[in-house]
Amino acid sequence: MTARNIDGKALSEKVREEIAQQAAELTAKGVQPCLAVILVGEDPASAVYVRNKVAGCEKAGFRSLKFSYPADVAPEQVFAKIAELNADTSVHGILVQLPLPKQFDSEKVLEAISPEKDVDGFHAVNFGLLLQGRKSFYPCTPWGVMKMLESENVQVKGAEAVVIGRSNIVGKPMSVMLLSKGATVTICHSQTRDLAFHTRRADILVAAVGKAKMITGDMIKPGAVVIDVGMNRDENGKLCGDVDYASASQVASLITPVPGGVGPMTITMLLANTLESARRALNQA
Ligand code: GUN
Repeated sequence: MTARNIDGKALSEKVREEIAQQAAELTAKGVQPCLAVILVGEDPASAVYVRNKVAGCEKAGFRSLKFSYPADVAPEQVFAKIAELNADTSVHGILVQLPLPKQFDSEKVLEAISPEKDVDGFHAVNFGLLLQGRKSFYPCTPWGVMKMLESENVQVKGAEAVVIGRSNIVGKPMSVMLLSKGATVTICHSQTRDLAFHTRRADILVAAVGKAKMITGDMIKPGAVVIDVGMNRDENGKLCGDVDYASASQVASLITPVPGGVGPMTITMLLANTLESARRALNQA
């Protein structure tokens, strides 16, 4: 079997067009969606992510604010900015780019953001709401994966889903979202004894580990849907996922390439969350 690609770039463009249209409608009613992004330090990857987030806002007709701090900034200064943005009714989403320098307690920073403006979906309140199956801001990457599955009419209900990775950003929320849609979910991680035993049972396999090409074709059930959240460099410095695309695409039915798969969906769902926050602000006004 040769897998078909799930084109995250094309889906992302389609969803962003809808978002831009709705943003224009909200703006005409007096509420222009606005995302504030905080970047601390000079991590080059973070700088690229933040630049793409700001560019995504502008293209969708959102207002965006960017606040950059040197790596040695006093945490109080960042907490003060978050408090100011929480109080600013023209700001609908607040995002602090991770990772933060070591003088920061990241959990405390994320929890300083008002849950109503937590468009990353990282606040414990939003995470708790997700766990209980209630309305919340969903973390953007796993939500983007759910959109991709939906766009391909992948049957989640009753499926065996295996998620590799247990991070708060991807693995854990991904597992909960699949569970909410009726999948039987197994979460694998670095301590899992026989990874291939689990992955070979998966109708839907999500890899979010951060290890280049670690999931090979022999670990995949024929016809499985393979979602690759990884973003790594291979031995030649080329961008690649956690899945060995060459061998996996011979076995799977659907697969996300890297780049051009899950990646573009993350910022799209961030825009969707910010739009939703702006809509709630308008309804409350
Ligand atoms: N660092 C890596 N991914 C993310 C993300 O989705 N949001 C934020 N704020 N930081 C990140």
